Amino acid sequence: MTKSDLIKQKKAAAEKAVEFIESGMLVGLGTGSTVKFMIEGLAKKIKNGLDVKTVSTSNATSNFAESLGITVLNFNDVEEIDITIDGADEVDPNLNGIKGGGGALLNEKIVASSSKKNIWMVDSTKHVELLGRFPLPVEVVPFGINQTLNKLFLLGYKPEFRSAAGKNYVTDGNHYIIDLHLNKIKNPAELNNKLLLIPGVVDTGLFLEVCDVLIISADDECKIILKT
Ligand code: 5RP
Repeated sequence: MTKSDLIKQKKAAAEKAVEFIESGMLVGLGTGSTVKFMIEGLAKKIKNGLDVKTVSTSNATSNFAESLGITVLNFNDVEEIDITIDGADEVDPNLNGIKGGGGALLNEKIVASSSKKNIWMVDSTKHVELLGRFPLPVEVVPFGINQTLNKLFLLGYKPEFRSAAGKNYVTDGNHYIIDLHLNKIKNPAELNNKLLLIPGVVDTGLFLEVCDVLIISADDECKIILKT
């Protein structure tokens, strides 16, 4: 797929997602390039009278939403979120997914777990039979990172520190990310449990049974898949 086709698909999925937002809702805003398109659509609707408040999953999203005049509340000041709209890096037929390509996995998981409904938007390339081609992000505390990396290496997970500008990538929560090059994840739940048992691992990019509504954009239309 060309870059411009990919952008078209992301925009189409984002536009569809905005249709789920109603006045009076508290909306969770995910993170990433597809979410940015969704936020642009939401900002237009707010200018036309839609009355919503939001919470955000990252500093980048908060800054972008606020720059468009959207009210972003402190997550600690709200109760349950009506819907959270987010992107994903891969989603399988059971609507389990990998997230965290944009580095916001921990906050995204916390916000998703406080949301009545989670809507994900993906382009068609991200809908896969088996998760794992996309490197699985694992968020780790900085203390003892070489030890943590070595444990992941000995388990055969092909770990690699994520870097940015030649340094370890640092999340909003001041953690690091180790990406696992697994290629195929046959049992996501088992892998998730194994990873969470490693001291120093804060969370993983495996989002299991989180997504309620998946919007997949293809060439000329969006397909919607509901969790069964
Ligand atoms: C950020 C994420 C993103 O939702 C995911 O990486 C998809 O991003 P994009 O919409 O830019 O393709 O999980 O942590």
